[in-house]
Amino acid sequence: MWQPTQIMMNGELMPFADASLHPMSLAVTYAATVFEGIRAYHVPETGQFAMFRMDEHIRRLQVGMKVMRFDQTYEIDYMRDCLTRLLKANEPDADVYFRLLVYIEGTGLLASTGPVGFTAAAMPRSKPKFADTGMGLGVSSWQRLSDNASPPRIKSTANYFNARLAVHQAKADGYDGALMLTPDGKVAEAPIACFFMVRDGKLITPDCSSNILESITRDTIITRYRELTGNVVEERAIDRSELYFAEEAFLCGTGQEILPVTSIDKLPVGSGEIGPMTRQMSEDYFGIVRGTVADHPEWRTMIG
Ligand SMILES: Cc1ncc(COP(=O)(O)O)c(C=O)c1O
Repeated sequence: MWQPTQIMMNGELMPFADASLHPMSLAVTYAATVFEGIRAYHVPETGQFAMFRMDEHIRRLQVGMKVMRFDQTYEIDYMRDCLTRLLKANEPDADVYFRLLVYIEGTGLLASTGPVGFTAAAMPRSKPKFADTGMGLGVSSWQRLSDNASPPRIKSTANYFNARLAVHQAKADGYDGALMLTPDGKVAEAPIACFFMVRDGKLITPDCSSNILESITRDTIITRYRELTGNVVEERAIDRSELYFAEEAFLCGTGQEILPVTSIDKLPVGSGEIGPMTRQMSEDYFGIVRGTVADHPEWRTMIG
């Protein structure tokens, strides 16, 4: 597997191992950081890379910077150029996962708004565990943080403290992963991915007011489901007990891609096998991101 040699800080390329940030920066002391994970899929036939829905990722990042009241922002064209330079500098020969972090790199008091800096890394990423086998989720006793406390809609590193609590509890309890509920007991999302389930043949996902990240993969699934089946995904509140009526379930996200869920709380989801709708949406998703399904060329920024 290829390894990253170069990393980018504030637009400058440097050896991967040389990146550094002061421990007294607000990024570290107060988690004053927003970030994105973006994938670029290798197209072996042409040697190009298809960066998936890059503009949407940068737009979400820009809103995060605004909410965090950073005194500087970065334009989409500039970030596209930076990520392109970074990818080329690393000469990958397989899929790439970008981490793009924007933060307050200065030291200062809690309310400081700058100086702002960014780091972009391009890394290999192997296929997520459980992609082929499906995973068993446990409903977490840690609540998903709520919109009026630490908004999950903003992809801030601070929110991943909550996510880590749930992941570690799930592991300690013998599950492959966690599913989190809102403070009023509705299904929210997994620590690093959104949730879909099938009931009575219909695809359902928690609505955007269920304390979720407004996931770009979730939007891709919603759009493609409508285009493929002519039906609309039900975006609505899901009670915990409704989970046990699911015929199928899966998680989705840029990093996790599509992960089938075969049990919840040690109860089988449907037959306990990966179901046909999950397989169909997964197959279509990989076709779309890699460009073997030609639809939505606007979602793929070609590099190289
Ligand atoms: C909490 C959370 N929900 C959902 C997602 C999926 O979001 P996206 O599809 O935009 O990558 C992620 C992944 O980054 C996440 O961290």
